Amino acid sequence: MNLKRFRIGVFASGRGSNLQAIIDAIEQGELNCEIAFVLSNNSNSGALEIARSKNIPAIHLSEKKYHKENFELSLIDVLENYKPDLIVLAGYMKLVPSMVIERFRNKIINIHPALLPKYGGKGMFGINVHRAVFESNEKESGVTVHVVNEKYDEGKILYQEKIDITDCNSPEEIAQKVLKVEHRVYPQVIQKIVDGKISLVD
Ligand code: GRF
Repeated sequence: MNLKRFRIGVFASGRGSNLQAIIDAIEQGELNCEIAFVLSNNSNSGALEIARSKNIPAIHLSEKKYHKENFELSLIDVLENYKPDLIVLAGYMKLVPSMVIERFRNKIINIHPALLPKYGGKGMFGINVHRAVFESNEKESGVTVHVVNEKYDEGKILYQEKIDITDCNSPEEIAQKVLKVEHRVYPQVIQKIVDGKISLVD
């Protein structure tokens, strides 16, 4: 029997710890898919290094080198070439161009380190999110996995998990606690999508 494996493409800009968690889950047999490619806007990202070390195609594509339209077309070229079933944003710091969203509507997901719709939107990334949560004296934060649309952090929420942060004394401590949960949650949600147990369509 020749069953085609579910293929994901991962977009990442930074250290790539969520990518690593996805790879670990695949290697441990907890996530049944293959990573078709890893794409980054940042040539120095840890995510590209991780991909190379695992012989996963590692693609650096930055809009800085292109005119806007050419960049978008190049991105679509990559996607047409590798044909992922799902695009997984794992710390991708750029807005996905609307041309790409249109072509891959309801096929792109993101993980956000807070309980959306609070603490999302432009500028709400990395430690900024956790600082805002900390400064608002929140008792809980969390993890949100959502569909990506044209606006930052606004697509359909697929999964949310709350995290008690009353023991955290700084934004950094919140970040650490939330990241640990991200690493468990993201592969689990992807597996549910693979199994058709979560639908991305509104
Ligand atoms: C994570 O906190 C994720 O929620 C956010 O960006 C961070 C990426 O971290 N979107 P890493 O590169 O996966 O370590």
